[in-house]
Amino acid sequence: ASAHIGVTGLAVMGRNLARNFARHGHTVAVHNRTAARTRSLVEEYGGEGTFVPAERPEDFVGSLERPRRLVVMVKAGRPTDAVIEEFAPLLEPGDMIIDGGNAHFQDTRRREASLRERGVHFVGTGISGGEEGALHGPSIMPGGSAESYESLGPLLEDISAKAQDGSPCCTHIGPDGAGHFVKMVHNGIEYADMQLIAEAYDLLRHVAGFEPARIAETFRTWNTGRLDSYLIEITAEVLAHTDAATGLPFVDVVADRAEQKGTGRWTVQTALDLGVPVSGIAEAVFARSVSGHADLREAARTLPGPERRPMSEQGAEAFAHHVEHALYASKVVSYAQGWNMVSAAGEEYGWEIDLGSIAAIWRGGCIIRAAFLDRIRAAYAADPGLPTLLADKEFAAEVGEAQDAWRAVVSTAVAHGVPTPGFAAALTYYDALRAERLPAALTQGQRDFFGAHTYRRTDREGSFHTLWGGDRTERPAD
Ligand code: 6PG
Repeated sequence: ASAHIGVTGLAVMGRNLARNFARHGHTVAVHNRTAARTRSLVEEYGGEGTFVPAERPEDFVGSLERPRRLVVMVKAGRPTDAVIEEFAPLLEPGDMIIDGGNAHFQDTRRREASLRERGVHFVGTGISGGEEGALHGPSIMPGGSAESYESLGPLLEDISAKAQDGSPCCTHIGPDGAGHFVKMVHNGIEYADMQLIAEAYDLLRHVAGFEPARIAETFRTWNTGRLDSYLIEITAEVLAHTDAATGLPFVDVVADRAEQKGTGRWTVQTALDLGVPVSGIAEAVFARSVSGHADLREAARTLPGPERRPMSEQGAEAFAHHVEHALYASKVVSYAQGWNMVSAAGEEYGWEIDLGSIAAIWRGGCIIRAAFLDRIRAAYAADPGLPTLLADKEFAAEVGEAQDAWRAVVSTAVAHGVPTPGFAAALTYYDALRAERLPAALTQGQRDFFGAHTYRRTDREGSFHTLWGGDRTERPAD
């Protein structure tokens, strides 16, 4: 038994993670349901480090040093349960199963609880960064017991991405499903970021009248400022790409139906359960959904819209500048919402998550990596009890400065009939939070009228009901 760690499930993510461990000098046991994949990994990449291939689960488990660290990289859902059922009987107390898939955190909680009974640590681990990240350094979000992290943490930190200050993009998030929860929110924020960028593109294209190549240039410029991020960088690449078959901009030959595998939807479903408003993420999920409804879109295609007047060159330049501000302010809002969600779940499940550390480990390796995350880290370092990112002095000042441009962009979008659900939802959330009085008072009145649901008053403690069907006097409700 000599392998430091084992990886089972050698599709591209598992294979690249195994190679990453090996490249860092760790002996890696490798296993796959169909052995041909194990053999090809060793044939192709055996020179990168020390691999211990095994065909039978018993041999795979037997080749691991104790306590055993077994990374499972299979499709989330049933396949994960199947692998656990196969390997758990071969393990001993103290061993660890690390699930690196995009599992639902409630599944992770269930699996963790059941394996804990056998003394086996189940470490639901979020891994972000795609294939390249898995090989060169992902951002890693392990949940599970603190004890398991003592043994596992150093290995994971070793292969993780490193932030600019050299610190590893991996930390123990919290017990049971905390790691997968945080990965889920990462993906929700990823959806929101992508949607906001897509809206910015749409506005530059159809309101400012820029061609894709020019928009690519605009994004490149933005990427040198506070929007500096991986997603903006790859957006410029995609927009600058020309389709070889037609010679047209690539973005014009791709079907405009956005797909999804489910983590964004989970984020919104979970936010609804937790009662946390994540409107930016929700709008991003719905926008993908709308794009996929060919039937509805076909049925509505001939509905009238406003006449679009082309902008002057000067006007377009100024508008593009405003879009940059609107994008930034909307981004701050969706991150604020995502962080609120992590904070609420931390309380709900007793996870005690360090909110600043989440920003710290997303600075490198993951899909939403961005210069901006170091500022979120700093905001929570300055005030760990920050109720919302929007209350941080620096972010508040920036968003405040951006608000005129933000409003101008949303109203111009409306006037031109270009959908901007992300920008508009973010601005609406901002305005709702800062409102002195919300019309929720009226909602309460209506509820009391039709259902005697009671209301609270601004001037006295307690619940009240008005006799709407009678003399309209007010009674205390008990
Ligand atoms: C990551 C990505 C990764 C995956 C997304 C894609 O962090 O590396 O988020 O997990 O690419 O889940 O999600 P959709 O297919 O739902 O867009």
